[in-house]
Order: sequence, then C-alpha cells, then structure tokens
Amino acid sequence: MSKETLIELKGVKKRYGPAGDVLRGIDLRVEPGQTIAIVGPSGSGKSTLLNIIGAIDSPDSGSVRIRDKDPTTMSEPDLAAMRARDFGWIFQAHHLIPHCTVLENALLPTLAIGDRRAGAAFVDRARALLDRVGIASLADRRPGQLSSGECQRAAAVRALINGPRVLLADEPTGALDAANAAAMIELLLELHRDAGAALILVTHAPPIAARMGRILELSNGRLSAKGEP
Ligand SMILES: Nc1ncnc2c1ncn2[C@@H]1O[C@H](COP(=O)(O)OP(=O)(O)OP(=O)(O)O)[C@@H](O)[C@H]1O
Ligand SMILES: [Mg+2]
Repeated sequence: MSKETLIELKGVKKRYGPAGDVLRGIDLRVEPGQTIAIVGPSGSGKSTLLNIIGAIDSPDSGSVRIRDKDPTTMSEPDLAAMRARDFGWIFQAHHLIPHCTVLENALLPTLAIGDRRAGAAFVDRARALLDRVGIASLADRRPGQLSSGECQRAAAVRALINGPRVLLADEPTGALDAANAAAMIELLLELHRDAGAALILVTHAPPIAARMGRILELSNGRLSAKGEP
C-alpha cells in the first residue's frame, strides 16, 4: 500500500527571462516523515525548487499538489494560511526581526494562521520549544545579543511553532562553524522526529546530506537520486 503523499511535483518547469530554464521537468513525491537532502551546484535551482515546494513561488508549467490541493487554484488568504500552517522555513541567515525578542520572533508565524484564541497556548508552546532547543533562558533577549548558533535555534523554534507538516531548510548551517552545523542538523533531525514532519534540506555539505534518508541532486534542471544516472 502506498503511503500518503504530502507533496507531489510533476513535470515542473521554471525559467527566468530568456537566459534559460532553471528547472526542466522536476518530478518529486514527498511522504510524511521523510528526510530529503537536495544538493547541486550553485545556481542549479535548489532554492527555486524549495520555494515551489513551499508554495512561495509557482512553476511556469507542470503541477504541484500539496496534500492533494493545487496551490495555483487557492485564494490568496487560503494560500497564506496553508503556507503558515503546513510549512516551517529555516534559511541560511536566520532572518529574525532584530527589534523583537526571541520569544516574539518565535511567535510571529502564529499571526499568519488567524487563530487569535490560541494566543496563550502558543506562548506556552514557544517557551516549551525554546526549552527543547536549549535557549529558554534567552527568550527575552533580542537576536543581536545571541550567537549565530543560538539565532539558528531560535529560527528553528519559529519554524516549528505552528506544527508544520514539512520543514524546509535552505542551507540552514551555511553561517555556522562545523561543530554548530553538526549540532544544528542533529537538532533538526530530532525536531522532525518529535513533530512527525518531513524535512527537506538544501545543503552543499556531503556529511550533512548523508544524514538524510534520500539525497537528490539537481543538475541541468533535473533531479536525480544521487549515485544513479
Ligand atoms: N527572481 C529571479 N530572477 C531572475 N533569475 C533568478 C531569480 N531567482 C533565481 N534566479 C536565477 O536562477 C538560477 C537558480 O537560482 P537558485 O537561487 O534557485 O540557485 P541555487 O541552486 O539555490 O544556488 P545557490 O547554491 O547559490 O544558493 C540562478 O541562475 C539565478 O541567478
Ligand atoms: Mg540557494
């Protein structure tokens, strides 16, 4: 019996201007709880692909289905709510808001899902997640008063606050030293297991890719399982 399909891309193509195709026909199926590394040369379209998977960009042709819904037919408010509820994002730079505290930053995505009744519960959840990643004592500090590893852990909490089904990480360790990068990956794997979320991670580092269940290489606009033609 085939498992539930979380995300399905078929024949996805994307081009920017006349310069050429970035994605030339991408097929990808993601099941709940999978871990996937996307690798490939700089400029090969990894971030473009991740943005399409997370419904913040759309393909020129081909189809995208997220939990059996076609994002291109959804209204903008429904799409915004789905993006905030189903996906948690972590980027190379943490993108925390400098004048907000760590706790306030962690709570930002809750504003986008429009459930104002749950405010206090979200604060409790944010504090529990901050504790889970070892920075509960930093909740009232601003990002400028944190190390880069601590900022990335705060960004991981922000990504998890809405209980996403998919964690999307675009070079989440790119700004970290080797020890902090390794710790961040183990943390992401633990959080993905705790939350039962799929994890899709773009990385340049082979040891990090090797920690994921599947490694897919993007090259010349096509995706292939690494090691296979
Ligand atoms: N908004 C845009 N407008 C025009 N071209 C773009 C745009 N976004 C990306 N590109 C181009 O598309 C190609 C793929 O970019 P993308 O950022 O997806 O690559 P990447 O694999 O993530 O690279 P890196 O490893 O350096 O992050 C690049 O040639 C880039 O210049
Ligand atoms: Mg990129």
